[in-house]
Amino acid sequence: MTTVWPLPPVVPAGRMADSEQPVLDLPGGLELRPWQPADAESLVTASQDPDIRQWNLFSVGTVEEARVRIGRMHERWRAEQGAIWAIARPGEVAIGLIGWNEIDLQGGSAEILYWVLPAARGGGVVVAATERLSRWALDELGLHRLRLRHSVANAASCRVAEKAGYTLEGTLRSSLLHADGWHDMHLHALLQGDL
Ligand SMILES: CC(C)(COP(=O)(O)OP(=O)(O)OC[C@H]1O[C@@H](n2cnc3c(N)ncnc32)[C@H](O)[C@@H]1OP(=O)(O)O)[C@@H](O)C(=O)NCCC(=O)NCCS
Repeated sequence: MTTVWPLPPVVPAGRMADSEQPVLDLPGGLELRPWQPADAESLVTASQDPDIRQWNLFSVGTVEEARVRIGRMHERWRAEQGAIWAIARPGEVAIGLIGWNEIDLQGGSAEILYWVLPAARGGGVVVAATERLSRWALDELGLHRLRLRHSVANAASCRVAEKAGYTLEGTLRSSLLHADGWHDMHLHALLQGDL
């Protein structure tokens, strides 16, 4: 067998940076679209929600700081390191956030993160958005393995993972420091061919 070394990248560099971040339709008249400066207030509101603070370890003090974060999301797309979308109705401000952190095009993996504001919870929005973005990441971007981690105490997030088809692979003991101490984390994953 001929050994090819170094291994070629799973996804060639440039596949994100050379294209615009797409707008993707969701059921219920919602869409996934890039964050805009006008969404800054939504980030501040989210960071005041106790559940989002607790589970997303997320804090933004001011609208100015939120605008800087939104600018950084666009930089991270161009650097092919992150891909973060707003969940919104067309023409309206963001009601949630979902996207990929720790994108590794060379190795073919990324980790999903998400939250929605309290008024948008309970209707299956995040499950639909997770399914849509997972299809995008596997079929359009070409990643091989998608990770989803959540605290074992976050039952809602565990249910989102299960409903979106992510297999529970195990528990990462005392893995992430939260405001109330170290939490064990569930590791779920979705692989090429799972869907
Ligand atoms: C986790 C979160 C994104 C889920 O969004 P959501 O809109 O509430 O989820 P859905 O309505 O799609 O519900 C998903 C499932 O979780 C279940 N669920 C919701 N809250 C739950 C809870 N506290 N305990 C157990 N299951 C729960 C729902 O019943 C549903 O399952 P079902 O369809 O079988 O009934 C949302 O609650 C949130 O933003 N929470 C705060 C931040 C957060 O936890 N982020 C994730 C960090 S890993």
